[in-house]
Amino acid sequence: MAKEILNVKNIDKEFKAKSTKLFSRPKPIKVLKDISFDLYEGETLSIVGESGCGKTTLGRCIVKGIDATSGVVNYHAEKNEKVDYLNMNREEYKKYRKDIQMIFQDPYSSLSPRMSVYDIIAEPLITNFNLTKNEANEKVANIAEKVGLNVNYLKRYPHAFSGGQRQRIAIARALITQPKVIVCDEAVSALDVSIQAQIINLLIDLQKEFGITYIFISHDLSVVQTISDKVVVMHLGKIVEMASVEEIFNHPKHPYTEALLSAVPIPDPNVEKERIILEGEVPNPANPPSGCEFHPRCPYKTDKCTIDIPNLAQIGEDQEHFSACHYANELKLKGARIEDATNE
Ligand SMILES: Nc1ncnc2c1ncn2[C@@H]1O[C@H](COP(=O)(O)OP(=O)(O)OP(=O)(O)O)[C@@H](O)[C@H]1O
Ligand SMILES: [Mg+2]
Repeated sequence: MAKEILNVKNIDKEFKAKSTKLFSRPKPIKVLKDISFDLYEGETLSIVGESGCGKTTLGRCIVKGIDATSGVVNYHAEKNEKVDYLNMNREEYKKYRKDIQMIFQDPYSSLSPRMSVYDIIAEPLITNFNLTKNEANEKVANIAEKVGLNVNYLKRYPHAFSGGQRQRIAIARALITQPKVIVCDEAVSALDVSIQAQIINLLIDLQKEFGITYIFISHDLSVVQTISDKVVVMHLGKIVEMASVEEIFNHPKHPYTEALLSAVPIPDPNVEKERIILEGEVPNPANPPSGCEFHPRCPYKTDKCTIDIPNLAQIGEDQEHFSACHYANELKLKGARIEDATNE
């Protein structure tokens, strides 16, 4: 059985809102609300949801790039060793930070233009390990080769590289400390489709070779379907559904998931599919709707949904499937059934 590597527990994140009235104290905006999930070694958990639902904020809280307002991330560093990654002191953090890394969306702005590619890749090594120059050189050359970068070009600056090559540089930088967990925030979204496939294959190969665990943030559900073991669906800072990738795509149990899935193209011209257009605007996180926060746009809503807040509850016997919908067990929702459609 796979070993647990992270337990994300009850993460909340508030941002200070700007004051709109003179002398009034603004209410903080809750961007993440009680986020909890478990992650096992070597698996890929994807986080999906519309723009602004809090995916990047959650990723940054988990890697400690920003401080969560409250919550715990238990990191199982070694067998029988469990540490609270979010609430540890500076000295402890220095010991563990190399283990959890993040790759960002935009390979054009996330790499320092004033550093050579060699220095960009080597920097986390220098800050986390006490290595001689030769040792560092060897590690950088090794990792560059692994991600498919020409070692002879490492003295160049990022501007000399294409988007796909830059993302390889970012991956090399994230990998150099041999992390256990990597948060990939829209890591391929800015790339052309053919380059996307190359980078995804690279991530999968690296996962197989090193047993890396990924948290994969993406709005592209076709990519999510290809690479994930588990999927977390977020709406307005909350998890509304969470399950294995097969369950999410074939048997969604939340109307919001159904709507997201209806936008996934099916690679079969004989299968007709109706896209669910969500009416109304994405609610404002500063002033969320009452009851179920999805109710203003939900085609199945009842009066209960406008009043009662649904809990994230287990679906039937499946201990991995959770939905926060009052009618999760009654609604017959449509999945994407990408595999079924191509097999028919
Ligand atoms: N530093 C900040 N200060 C105030 N509000 C912020 C800050 N960073 C993010 N937010 C707000 O938090 C919410 C979640 O933002 P976040 O960037 O995490 O969303 P996202 O799901 O990653 O969106 P996208 O798909 O567009 O990348 C948004 O309403 C955003 O405006
Ligand atoms: Mg984001």
